[in-house]
Amino acid sequence: MTDDTLLLGQTLAFDGDPFVQGPGAARHSARGGVLIRDGRIAAVGDAAELRATHPQARVIDHGDALLSAGFVDAHAHYPQTAIIASWGKRLIDWLNSYTFPEEARFSDPDYAAQIAGRYLDLILSNGTTTVASYCTIHPASVDAFFTAAQARGMRVAAGKTCMDRNAPDTLRDSAQSAYDDSRALLARWHGIDRLSYVITPRFSPTSTPEQLQALGALWAEHPDCLMQTHLSEQLDEVAWVKSLYPQARDYLDTYEAHGLLGARGLYGHAIHLDPRERDRLAELGAGLIHCPTSNTFIGSGLFDMAGLVGQGCRVGLATDTGGGSSFSMLRTMAAAYEIGQLRGTALHPAQLWWLATAGSARTLHMAGQIGNLVPGAEADIAVIDLASTPAIAQRAARADDLWGALFPTIMMGDDRAVVATYVAGRPVSAAPI
Ligand code: GUN
Ligand code: ZN
Repeated sequence: MTDDTLLLGQTLAFDGDPFVQGPGAARHSARGGVLIRDGRIAAVGDAAELRATHPQARVIDHGDALLSAGFVDAHAHYPQTAIIASWGKRLIDWLNSYTFPEEARFSDPDYAAQIAGRYLDLILSNGTTTVASYCTIHPASVDAFFTAAQARGMRVAAGKTCMDRNAPDTLRDSAQSAYDDSRALLARWHGIDRLSYVITPRFSPTSTPEQLQALGALWAEHPDCLMQTHLSEQLDEVAWVKSLYPQARDYLDTYEAHGLLGARGLYGHAIHLDPRERDRLAELGAGLIHCPTSNTFIGSGLFDMAGLVGQGCRVGLATDTGGGSSFSMLRTMAAAYEIGQLRGTALHPAQLWWLATAGSARTLHMAGQIGNLVPGAEADIAVIDLASTPAIAQRAARADDLWGALFPTIMMGDDRAVVATYVAGRPVSAAPI
C-alpha cells in the first residue's frame, strides 16, 4: 500500500531556461496534477490520467489555482526581519543605523530562535520554501536558524556572517575565530537533513584581507559548500573598497585574490560592475543574485539583467530581506520587472517565474532537487490563487493565456495569493486545503 498524494490544479514547470529558449521553455497544464510519494515528486501530468493511473492516491484538488515549485530566495538576512522597512538611509548608514544594532541582539540565543521561527513562517506563508540566508556573527544565530528550518523540514542554506573590521566591537570576530567558528558550524550542520552550510564573509569592507584569506582557505577545504557575499551594490561602497584594497584590480578582485571566487559563489547585488568583473563572473558560472526591492529601497542602482544574462551570467533572484522591502517573491518579481523596464527590457512572466524558482535553484546548485515540478525533485510546492484580490481577479479575467493570467499576480500579488505551501510533500501553511 503506497501513501501517495495527488495535487490537482493548473501546473507550471520548465523544460529549459526561458532566457535562452523563450516562453516555450515553460510547460503549462490547465488541468494538471502532481503525484507526491515519500516527499518527492513522482509524476507530473494530466489530472485525469494521473487519477486513472493512481486510483489509490489521496487527492487534494486546488481547483483553478496554479501549482508551482516553491519559490527559492537566493539571498536574505533572516536577522533583519524585525527592521525591514526602516526609513531614510543608504547602504552604509543603513547598516550602521539599523542593521548592526539589530544584529547585536542575536547574542541572545532565545531572541535568535524567536526571529528564526518568525522569519521562516513568514516566508512559507509567501510560498518560499528555500532560502540562502545570512545569519549574524554569533554561531548561536546559525544554530537557531538551522534548528528552526530542520523542524519545518525545509531545504535551506545559511552561514555565520563574518566581520573583523568596520563593525561595532560586539559584532566583530577575527580571521582565526571566523575560520574556527565557520568550520565548526559547517561540521555540525552541512549535509544534515536538508541543510547546507554557506561560508559567509559579509563583504570586503568588513573583512581584513587576512579574514578573506582564512575563509578562502576554508572554502578550498570544503569545495562542495556554497560561499555568499555582497558585490558592488552602491557606488560609495565600491569607492570604499577601492580605498581599503588599493592593490586590487576591482571589487571582484578583493574576493578573487583571497580564494573567494568560484562557481559556487553567490554574489549579492552585482550592479556596478566593470567589464573585467562581468567577464570573469560569466566565465566561472558564478551566481549573481539580483535583489530588486532592496536596490530600489536603499537606492543602489539598476541591475543589468539583459546584459548580464546575454553574456552568459547565471542570475538568481532574491528579497535581500530586510534591505529588501518584502518577504514576497511575487513582489520581488514585480520589482525585477520594473527595473528591467527602467533599463529598457521587459522581462517576460516566464523569465520572472523561472528566476524565482529554477533559476535561483541553479545558482544554489540545487537544480533537480528543488525549483521545478519534475519527477525526482523534492515536493516543495506553492499553490497560487490567480484571482486573490478583486483588482487581480478583474484583470486576470481578461487574460488570453497563462501569461496574461499570471502577470497580474506577479505585479500585484502578495501572501494572499498563496493558498498553500507544501514542504517535502507536507502542507505547512494555515490556509484551508
Ligand atoms: N552589504 C553588506 N551587508 C549588507 C546587508 O546586510 N544588506 C545589504 N543590502 N547590503 C549589504
Ligand atoms: Zn544582503
